[in-house]
Amino acid sequence: MSEVDWEARYVAGDTPWDQGGPIPLLTDALATGLLGEAGSAFAPGAGRGHDAAALAAAGWATTVVDLSPTAVGYATEHYPAVRFVLGDALDPDFVLAQTGGQVDLLWDHTFFCALPPALRRQVGVLAAALVRPGGLLASGVFPIDHPPSEGGPPWSYRPEDMDAVLDGFERVHTGDPVHLNPHFSFHHRLAIWRRG
Ligand SMILES: C[S@@+](CC[C@H](N)C(=O)[O-])C[C@H]1O[C@@H](n2cnc3c(N)ncnc32)[C@H](O)[C@@H]1O
Repeated sequence: MSEVDWEARYVAGDTPWDQGGPIPLLTDALATGLLGEAGSAFAPGAGRGHDAAALAAAGWATTVVDLSPTAVGYATEHYPAVRFVLGDALDPDFVLAQTGGQVDLLWDHTFFCALPPALRRQVGVLAAALVRPGGLLASGVFPIDHPPSEGGPPWSYRPEDMDAVLDGFERVHTGDPVHLNPHFSFHHRLAIWRRG
């Protein structure tokens, strides 16, 4: 499923990707209406759940699937407005059973870039199954200037990498590069795709 023992990282508290709150790219997008009217959302691999909690606070009925029991336990305790489920977010049937059907928004942040590149195509399969026609996939694209030759995680991720795994989606927004995380020297940018 994953080449990283994510649970061990949470147990050890070795989680430099976790900024202790939602990323500003998401809160700005929510505040400016870039993600549209609040509806249903799914956030794969959302860890301790800060972004998911921001979605819920903005009115989105939000479900998370993460495979770390420690992260899911933390998130469940701190963010009761979100439905956190332990499991494999790359299993579309399992995810659809948790969300109760297709969603309006799939929110990715440091999930796609954490996956071994050989698994990226499965995100496209998930998006095709899970996002309703007209719905959105939005992503905090990171680390955009990380050379692919340096490996990962986080693996190099540019908007074109998500384009390559999506079928039937059009990229409708690509934000400017910004530096968000003091633990990493690489840039983020928000990108949004709409399902046709
Ligand atoms: C780099 S962390 C990012 C966590 C969170 N998005 C954040 O920004 O704090 C990657 C997360 O993906 C989860 N993960 C990795 N593979 C997964 C899978 N197949 N299904 C569900 N969660 C997965 C890990 O447990 C971990 O919480």
